[in-house]
Amino acid sequence: MTLWSGRFDTAPDPAAFDFGISFGFDRALFEDDVTGSIAWAEALAAAGVLSAADATSIVNALREILEQGRRDPAWVAGPDEDVHSFVERQLVDRVGDAGRRLHTGRSRNEQVSLDLRLYLRRRIGLLQQAVVKVVAACADQAEQAGAAMMPSYTHLRRAQPVLVAHFFLSHASAIRRDYGRLVTAANEADALTLGSGAIAGTSYGVDTSLLARKLGFSRVVSNSMDASSDRDFVASFLYSVSLGMVHLSRMAEDLIIFTGEEYGFFDLADASATGSSMMPQKKNPDPLELVRGKTGRAIGRLTGWLATMKGLPGGYNKDLQEDKETVFDAEKTYAVSLAATHAVVSRLSVNAERSGRAASGLLLATDVADYLVSRGMPFRRAHEVVGAMVRRLLAEGRDFSVMSMAEWREASEMFGDDAPQAATALASVQARRTPQSTNPDAVRAALNACRAWVASPS
Ligand code: ARG
Repeated sequence: MTLWSGRFDTAPDPAAFDFGISFGFDRALFEDDVTGSIAWAEALAAAGVLSAADATSIVNALREILEQGRRDPAWVAGPDEDVHSFVERQLVDRVGDAGRRLHTGRSRNEQVSLDLRLYLRRRIGLLQQAVVKVVAACADQAEQAGAAMMPSYTHLRRAQPVLVAHFFLSHASAIRRDYGRLVTAANEADALTLGSGAIAGTSYGVDTSLLARKLGFSRVVSNSMDASSDRDFVASFLYSVSLGMVHLSRMAEDLIIFTGEEYGFFDLADASATGSSMMPQKKNPDPLELVRGKTGRAIGRLTGWLATMKGLPGGYNKDLQEDKETVFDAEKTYAVSLAATHAVVSRLSVNAERSGRAASGLLLATDVADYLVSRGMPFRRAHEVVGAMVRRLLAEGRDFSVMSMAEWREASEMFGDDAPQAATALASVQARRTPQSTNPDAVRAALNACRAWVASPS
């Protein structure tokens, strides 16, 4: 029995009907569906549409249903078309005709949007907590790294020395922004759809503002036609998940590279790696690779959803039912990826000797040029002078640290006795002056700011 069998002569063809059944996945909305229905029953009673007695028996039965579903999630199952039909069937089983009055003035079109909005507002909070944990793990690594140094890269070629802490805080900075995007997605879901009816609005005097407040919404949708087809909040959520995954993926890629034999700046904990069935020496960064791989899947959910929405005519269309598996999959993908990233990052160790060694040598060329600039040489000229030094050192397989004073002077009269000291990784980071730089004091302040954010994220 469906909620709409009245106008049909025959039972539906399973090939068509079963295809449209969503209960297998929209049962995740059970809690939200019941919550919304309790509020709707109270609103109908307040509007004089339901008697106080009917409203009481409906609300009590719905509370019972909610309790039972929470106690035994496997009970939320059956031949029903969707979760809304399941809840209504359970209600009618318990309270008969009173239960048949609950759907007065309401449509599943607004109901399903309400449920998904309630669901997302609940679940986004959990994702945000997981995001904060990853940022905290980056901050812990930054703290533990202390004065350790590593090269930074542009074009994946050695660029300039940075503190290892600066590297970890760079990823923390990006991931912190993801928290803000989740806030935006939650705000977008923050509008009550009840009162929209199937599309034209409802003809009962329901106080939608009160209903919104009761369900924790700060506003009511502004147009019933728009509301029945609007899934922008789904797209915003999928976008925030996608970009969040992109950031996890980029950190994963950095860590895959920097924990590999060729770099060896960091070591993956044994607990964060897997072995090979054939090559005994292998220690593979599978969790990081999976985070990178699953990012494609999250982006696919976003682009897939935009494609689903783009051709829809106004009002509700069944295509919109695709929103749920999309949201649930993106949410799960992000949640497991955040957990895996947290696990890997928090157990990572820094190989300061090796990363520090890689942070010296010819990547100090900019600092040598800056030295000449500090003596009055125009930067373009200094760039040329140092470029010539680099060319020669490269040919001889040497670097700045082994040059004699005579060689410095030969390169330029302007090099004083203190020139060799300028060409060290420590001098290089200390020479940075801006708050966003890798200057050790600036990094310490950034770490404190990051810690403060973790304590009170926004
Ligand atoms: N299962 C449907 C969905 O997810 C519920 C809304 C059904 N509305 C309708 N007019 N068939 O979108």
